[in-house]
Amino acid sequence: MNRRNFLLSGLALPLLAPRSGLCASGRIDILPDEPIGKIAPTIYGHFTEHIGGVIYDGVWVGEKSKVPNVGGIRKALVDKLRQIQAPVIRWPGGCFADSYDWRDGVGPRDKRPTRTNFWANTPYLWKGPNGPQKYEPNAFGTNEFAHFCQLAGAQPYMAGDLRSLPARDFYQWIAYCNSPAGSTSLAKLRAEGGSAQPFDVHYWGVGNESWGCGGNFTGDEYAVEFRRYTTWVPRYGLDLHFVASGPNGNDYSWTESFFRKVTEKGPRELGNIFGLALHYYCGGPNNGLADKFSVDQWYSQLADAVVMEDLVHNHWRIMGQTDKKHEVKLVVDEWGSWHKTDPSIAPNYLFGYYPSLRDALVSGLTLDIFNRNADKIAMANDAQLINNINALFIGVEDKFIVTPNFYVFDMYKAHQGATSLRTVISGPILEQKSARGLAALAGSASLRGKRCTLTVTNADAQNPQQIEIAIRGRQVTGAKATVLTSKDIHAHNTLDQPTGIEPVRNQNVSIASPLTYSFAPASVTRLDLDLA
Ligand code: AHR
Repeated sequence: MNRRNFLLSGLALPLLAPRSGLCASGRIDILPDEPIGKIAPTIYGHFTEHIGGVIYDGVWVGEKSKVPNVGGIRKALVDKLRQIQAPVIRWPGGCFADSYDWRDGVGPRDKRPTRTNFWANTPYLWKGPNGPQKYEPNAFGTNEFAHFCQLAGAQPYMAGDLRSLPARDFYQWIAYCNSPAGSTSLAKLRAEGGSAQPFDVHYWGVGNESWGCGGNFTGDEYAVEFRRYTTWVPRYGLDLHFVASGPNGNDYSWTESFFRKVTEKGPRELGNIFGLALHYYCGGPNNGLADKFSVDQWYSQLADAVVMEDLVHNHWRIMGQTDKKHEVKLVVDEWGSWHKTDPSIAPNYLFGYYPSLRDALVSGLTLDIFNRNADKIAMANDAQLINNINALFIGVEDKFIVTPNFYVFDMYKAHQGATSLRTVISGPILEQKSARGLAALAGSASLRGKRCTLTVTNADAQNPQQIEIAIRGRQVTGAKATVLTSKDIHAHNTLDQPTGIEPVRNQNVSIASPLTYSFAPASVTRLDLDLA
């Protein structure tokens, strides 16, 4: 183990010799006098696309299904979303959004058209049997999505179609969702679908990945489209939050050109942009499969995950060249580990696999990055909610399980709406080549009243980390730990073994001074610290 100090948040603190008899391998200093900002609850958002098994049958099982449902929506999913306080759900895509005509998904369900799904061409899906994943039946449309959000207690975030529909359709979709009861023909159509009252959708994505499947635009071209689609929309007294399609990972030229072009008529345009969407997935063939990977691939995947921090900082800096007051925030509306499809999951479930403990660490690392950048990030959406990529749930017919990612969201929900605090973590750097200089420990802390929540990942696959924790100027009067870990770094849950990995909750932690805690190898930990 390399014992060089590392500095997580830029504050140069030397690694202090431990004052207790225990041999501490590092320190965590939480600085209550240095608030970063309020952690927007929407940082803990989700994403549901018409792709693979996400909508059919992850979310929508139909009213006549034997699977317990509320108006056709899988009840177990709704219950779990309530548990993690899901704040916002993005829909209907993803790439699907830019081929979707919202009118196909409204009106009587038995009269809705069947269309070819955007993803049907994907060889893996194409080879599979026909079904709603290939041929979209439109049984789940706008009213069903709004109902799903209401049941889950989440706000809807809808992505408009910029590639294949004119701006008029975008305006009319907004009118369908938000015009007052009885006011317009579209409000009446909405009422015929069971919802007289408007849905009051605030968050609107203006296309998706407009550099690729959303139109193959340049940043300049997209900026012109963005202005045209968003400037004269019907607002119905709502503060609409438009999210502009942002860069693919580290495509900094997109961010630079979009901001330059969108403001060429004046900086006022910035007031019309709530956020710039950033997408970043980590993984790929070099890092193995979801449940089969080497120790080197464990480290490589985690090292890929923390690239997110550079992406956030670099795009933010470029945005600031035009947007001097940083009116526009970042919206990371697709993120997560992305591995190869697991053929043991139903064949139509494109990009479906069982996320493991490794993916839970990716989720913890990423959410901690978002917390530490609470001043920059207004929303984020894990991709995707169920049966796909970085899923929190796997649901196939009447079987439904939670994945390790779910437990991370459950543990981290305590951060929602709390004040992010500057936190300095000093400890060892992992020496494995594939870790590429990754720090063993990373984390974030937030404060709400007299409760400080500290979340920490220990990326070291073998060694615990004995750490002194101090909250500057404050005394800890009680501490509890919730820990997600396993002796097996590949641990995961499956439909047949749903409890392969679960957190150990609310363990008592000694508050003897100095507060010292041993973070288990390969773990995600939440410490609940009560302050005097
Ligand atoms: O989440 C799967 C796909 O990844 C989305 O449809 C697209 O936006 C991204 O490329």
